[in-house]
Amino acid sequence: MTKELVIVRPDDWHLHLRDKDFLPTTVNESAKSFARAIIMPNLIPPITKLIDAENYKQRILSALKPNLSFDPLMTLYLTEETDPKEVKEGFVSGQISAVKLYPAGATTNSRSGVQNFEKIKPILEIMAEIGCPLCIHGEVTDSNIDIFDREKAFIDSVLNKIRTDNPTLKIIMEHITTKDAVDYVFSVNKNLAATVTTHHLSINRNDLLAGGIRPHFYCLPVVKRECHRLALVEAVVSGSPKFFLGTDSAPHLDHDKESSCGCAGCFTATNTLEILAHIFEEHKALDKLELFTSINGAKFYGKNINSDKIRIIKKNKPTSFPEKISTPRGEITIFKPNFETKWQVQV
Ligand code: DOR
Ligand code: ZN
Repeated sequence: MTKELVIVRPDDWHLHLRDKDFLPTTVNESAKSFARAIIMPNLIPPITKLIDAENYKQRILSALKPNLSFDPLMTLYLTEETDPKEVKEGFVSGQISAVKLYPAGATTNSRSGVQNFEKIKPILEIMAEIGCPLCIHGEVTDSNIDIFDREKAFIDSVLNKIRTDNPTLKIIMEHITTKDAVDYVFSVNKNLAATVTTHHLSINRNDLLAGGIRPHFYCLPVVKRECHRLALVEAVVSGSPKFFLGTDSAPHLDHDKESSCGCAGCFTATNTLEILAHIFEEHKALDKLELFTSINGAKFYGKNINSDKIRIIKKNKPTSFPEKISTPRGEITIFKPNFETKWQVQV
């Protein structure tokens, strides 16, 4: 029996497109399914100025195929030197939709991030005043803290203070990975929400490590125990407005991942909706998929809900996706969880 879902066209509230040679591949892959995306600013060098964001946006739009539409929502990379006036000007004019906070050293290209959280207090106050959302990579960087505990430590030692000092600041705790984060987000006021990725809903640390190390499952924050994955799934299928999709689709060339010190990131732009439809159906929550992919994020960011729809059908055999996608600089492996999906987006 063919099942069919028609939902409001989704948005991706956390996406890495990279730059230059990558853009014709990455932009069009996302634009097939998504209307808009929050574009991460961790390029080399990072997008720290409005002029950089504007130029990057133009490069993204130039890479878009003429038959597709896609609205890149730009962000600024927060440093200890970021000028509050620039953030205000950028947000009020619509040039940026959010500011991204990376703790220095937490992940890919985060060296210029924040070390001393006291220094960003004036910016956070202005952001709260003007309603500009703060996207946070929520992990401490202290090398003495076990990598599996870094998200919880961040909540306890950094996030809770930022939030209580700025109760009206809209904060998105990005790519959450633990039950601790789920519980925290549920327990506090409506100004804190979280994005959840396709891969953190699909795999656990056994998938990454048991029986061999799988570099294409390595991402940051690193995937955790099964009980944490289940807590994430429960949160997103609940339909709570506090959780929405941010794929964190993060392309790295295969030779950079399959190396003695492999990069973090899973490339999920190609098959995210098909994987999510499978997970939501498995949890008897297909009616909540649209909230997660297309409604909750727009509402939290104060954006309109997309007017067009997409159709996802379920066939009677597993959907096959290409194993890799090509760029002029090499191949990128498409994320493939340890289960099949029979769902397929109709383009
Ligand atoms: O796995 C990840 N990859 N996590 C991040 O936080 C950054 C991203 C990237 O830029 O590659
Ligand atoms: Zn990311």
